[in-house]
Amino acid sequence: MDQTTWAIAELEKTTIKLRRVAVKNEWKLPYTTDAQGNYDNRADQTVHYEIDNGINWWTNGFWAGILWRLYARTKDPQYLDYARKQEQMLAPCFTQYEGLHHDVGFMFLPSAVADYLLTGDHHAKVTGLHAASLLAGRFNPAGSFIRAWNDLPGSTQDTRGWAIIDCMLNISLLFWASRETKDPRFAQIAMAHADTVMQAFVRADGSCCHIVEFDPESGKRLKSHGGQGFAHGSAWTRGQGWGVYGFANAYRNSGKKSYLETAQKIAEYCLTKIDASYVIPIDFDQPSDCTFEDSCGACVLACGFLTLAKLTKDQHKATCYAETGYRIIRQIAEHRADYSDHCDAIVQNCSASFHNKEHHVTMVYADYYYLEALDLLSGSDFGIW
Ligand code: GLY
Repeated sequence: MDQTTWAIAELEKTTIKLRRVAVKNEWKLPYTTDAQGNYDNRADQTVHYEIDNGINWWTNGFWAGILWRLYARTKDPQYLDYARKQEQMLAPCFTQYEGLHHDVGFMFLPSAVADYLLTGDHHAKVTGLHAASLLAGRFNPAGSFIRAWNDLPGSTQDTRGWAIIDCMLNISLLFWASRETKDPRFAQIAMAHADTVMQAFVRADGSCCHIVEFDPESGKRLKSHGGQGFAHGSAWTRGQGWGVYGFANAYRNSGKKSYLETAQKIAEYCLTKIDASYVIPIDFDQPSDCTFEDSCGACVLACGFLTLAKLTKDQHKATCYAETGYRIIRQIAEHRADYSDHCDAIVQNCSASFHNKEHHVTMVYADYYYLEALDLLSGSDFGIW
């Protein structure tokens, strides 16, 4: 069976499972599953959430993204209805400015922008443009970077100068906004940020930092932080995935060659670390006897490799990237995908952060990027990033 045929067959399995899960979770903004396998709900008014992890939680666009992918595949209007309900639940976050962050890209590209791309809906387009304006407003001109988070009430941490590798995916929202409005400012900010990340995040060996801190007044690079990885200076695998996928998309969106070269540099580094099992650890530098893995990082990396393969002219390299993306996602499908009724999520063994108490949980964005990787393999992706 060739890779495309395999991916189409796998997508069939996801459709059968997700039809049941969608019916069950119509009015939820899910992030993870509980011990019984049921999705939680970040829009649950009876639960106390902090200002940034209730309806403003950064992953809240991914369930809508899954529903839009199901709609694109099946054209079943039920999925359109469910996805619009997600957008309705997300809408109040625009009135909670303090709890918003640069992840408006992750929140609104797979939800409102996907809606607009698939249906042409005007309200969805305006929602996407509002989100893009908020993201552009986080740009620090002195340091030429997009600020990641706000300082939360009660916290003494000063994050005014913090930028993170994950934002390489968020800037796709800016490229889209420039295309829609014919106003180059959004893309100019996206590229200014990407240029800074190339200089300040990517190390000589091709690995990249998770967090870099700049002086918010002068813009000077101060230091890096280990973030969700194993240690300061280590290579958090999902961060490497954001780097490969983010720079590949930045190249596709802008045509700037150095972004392609940067995506390839990070990818080449990853190739020296990925072993024959294609199981992706939480961090490429975690101790060799540590068995923590991150299937979510695996799915993001797979999307990065598959996209990079399509953009790479050197046939030898392109084949190697395509094969790596396929192998990673195949190992997830064969060993980490749960198609049963026992759990709402498909992808198992995800880890949010190396130093979290819990590992090997489910995370809705793992399922999202799993579907995206299968869509990339089957040729049915519709280009959100
Ligand atoms: N901080 C985004 C992520 O967990 O990948």
